[in-house]
Amino acid sequence: MRIVILTGAGISAESGLATFRASDGLWENHRIEDVATPEGFDHDPALVHRFYNMRRQAARQARPNAAHHALAELAGRHDLTLVTQNVDDLHERGGSPQVIHMHGELNRALCAGCGHRWDAPPLMQPHDECPACTAPSTRPDIVWFGEMPYHMEQIWKALDHADLFAAIGTSGNVYPAAGFVQYAARKGAECIEMNLEASANARDFDRRILGPASVTVPEWIASL
Ligand code: APR
Repeated sequence: MRIVILTGAGISAESGLATFRASDGLWENHRIEDVATPEGFDHDPALVHRFYNMRRQAARQARPNAAHHALAELAGRHDLTLVTQNVDDLHERGGSPQVIHMHGELNRALCAGCGHRWDAPPLMQPHDECPACTAPSTRPDIVWFGEMPYHMEQIWKALDHADLFAAIGTSGNVYPAAGFVQYAARKGAECIEMNLEASANARDFDRRILGPASVTVPEWIASL
């Protein structure tokens, strides 16, 4: 069976990483436009680096939970394409062999000048030099609002052939990820959402399993 799974911030919530649209969301003390747009970075790179340094630190201290581990086990039994909107590395540390990060990764740095990517240091500063072209144009390798998500061709291709699509821990507010379910359904996949509550695109799913991911995901995967 070919399975495509999309995860969002909710799968890392029980690992202690804040989600975006809950009351304790990450954006709480920052406006999205200040810390998650290219304009915000141009305006105040020090603020944006501080914001991602804090998130990188929090992600390093977090531990994968049972949902991450269950997805890793699933990859050993089925043809699984795991796509995440998350920028933490909990899927990798939970044992998933392949993870498609469509919104980038906290642990990667990008040179806005030459496009070079490398492993980010724990703390990034404005004007850090690019190790390839030495330009002082280093930024977090995160896809900001208004920028193109990564690996979209690979994701659409996987959705073209999916027998089963599941969305786990995402509010269904941000496109193109929120549109994957409609696309998969049109291609004939069974679509399931696992969340604490019905997402913004809940009507597009065939069924829903409500509850904390660390409980619902291992139970669901054990049934496959
Ligand atoms: N188990 C399952 N679901 C949970 C849990 C949990 N323990 N805790 C929270 N959730 C659900 C919430 O109910 C919510 O629907 O996870 C979802 C998280 O939604 P968001 O905070 O909107 O996060 P996400 O959908 O990943 O955001 C998508 O938007 O902010 C941008 O680029 C950012 O990748 C992010 C994108």
